[in-house]
Amino acid sequence: MIKWDDSWPIGIAEIDYQHHRLVDLTNDLAAAMLKGQGRAEIFNTFKNLANYTIEHFSDEEAMMEECDYKDLENQQKEHEEFRRKLAEFIVNYQNGAIRIPNEVLVFLAEWLRDHTHGSDRKFGKYWQEQQLLKGS
Ligand SMILES: [Fe+2]
Repeated sequence: MIKWDDSWPIGIAEIDYQHHRLVDLTNDLAAAMLKGQGRAEIFNTFKNLANYTIEHFSDEEAMMEECDYKDLENQQKEHEEFRRKLAEFIVNYQNGAIRIPNEVLVFLAEWLRDHTHGSDRKFGKYWQEQQLLKGS
């Protein structure tokens, strides 16, 4: 389970809200696995996470574009890689090729933490600077 704490917010309310929701959805998936929920239920939590992730990435990238963020391309690459991984996990699960192995849950949790605490935090700082400049 991922614990949301003070290290998570990057200083953009809308993005922080979405990141918190991603943490919750990842925890929902882990909980469904732990509780040994049925396949349909687990698949549902997986799809909820994937759908929200896609929505979130697109919102985040739109915000970055809007303020000419110099690192947008790098963010897009990281997002795309994660999107592809998620799709691969889901297809594997759907095909019954795998259960959701623990490594997958660990991968999701670690990626989310590392990406938000690294790349997204950098964007948060840039965005805040832009807001200040706009206000002056
Ligand atoms: Fe991001």
